[in-house]
Amino acid sequence: MENINNNKKIIIANWKMKLSLAETEKLAISFKETLGDINDCEIGVCPNFLSILKVKEILKDTNIKVGAQDTFWENEGSYTGEISPKMLIEAGCEYVLIGHSERRKFLMENYEMIHREVKAVLNLEDLIPVICIGENWDERKTDRRDFVLFDQIQQSLSGINIVGNQQIIIAYEPIWAIGSGTAIEPSEAEYAHKIIKLTLNDMFGMKIVKNNFKIIYGGSITSDNASGFVGLENIDGVLVGGASLLSDEFYKVIKKIVK
Ligand code: PGA
Repeated sequence: MENINNNKKIIIANWKMKLSLAETEKLAISFKETLGDINDCEIGVCPNFLSILKVKEILKDTNIKVGAQDTFWENEGSYTGEISPKMLIEAGCEYVLIGHSERRKFLMENYEMIHREVKAVLNLEDLIPVICIGENWDERKTDRRDFVLFDQIQQSLSGINIVGNQQIIIAYEPIWAIGSGTAIEPSEAEYAHKIIKLTLNDMFGMKIVKNNFKIIYGGSITSDNASGFVGLENIDGVLVGGASLLSDEFYKVIKKIVK
């Protein structure tokens, strides 16, 4: 696995459950043609579970990496319906989203589960967890954002030892901005990322945070607003939902980020 401790921006597409299997395949082919040679940033794509093998096969000779949208916290056993981190690695995944707010909302995922998932993924070393955190509208309105971020990081990562080359991505996704059509002000994202970095520094020390962590922003990123998120000290990339469903639009986002 390539170390993410480089200056390359990370741009991850989250296709959610938005496409059929046939549409997913078609989009992967279009990604290959439009984005396959880009190497001045790290590009990842997270399709639905059923399409991972096919998408991996389509993208095998490109620079685009494949990720999953979720994982279970055990590697094998009687867990009907679940997919393990070990299986994801076997399928060729290099990233896995953990604790996306849609899973917290619709599947009642809580931070105890998220903590277990992070631990299981880090135990294998070949998979990079993308831990999604972020406040909801009510928490923002009542000025609780900083504490919420601090608390979510603590709950997902406390007691976990980061060793060697282990890589972790924190995706700051204010819940109220996801799918809303309006991203937050880049300066606000930069501030939130700073809070996240300071919390991580307190937990793990600056050296580990510098070498092992990246912090990316997600929530209504489009080619119209992406350039605002470039060049900010604490923003290492973006997680893109809606704007990743058309390869031309995603290409434009990438070009704004790595220009
Ligand atoms: P969005 O989704 O870009 O459509 O807001 C982002 C996400 O949920 O990761």
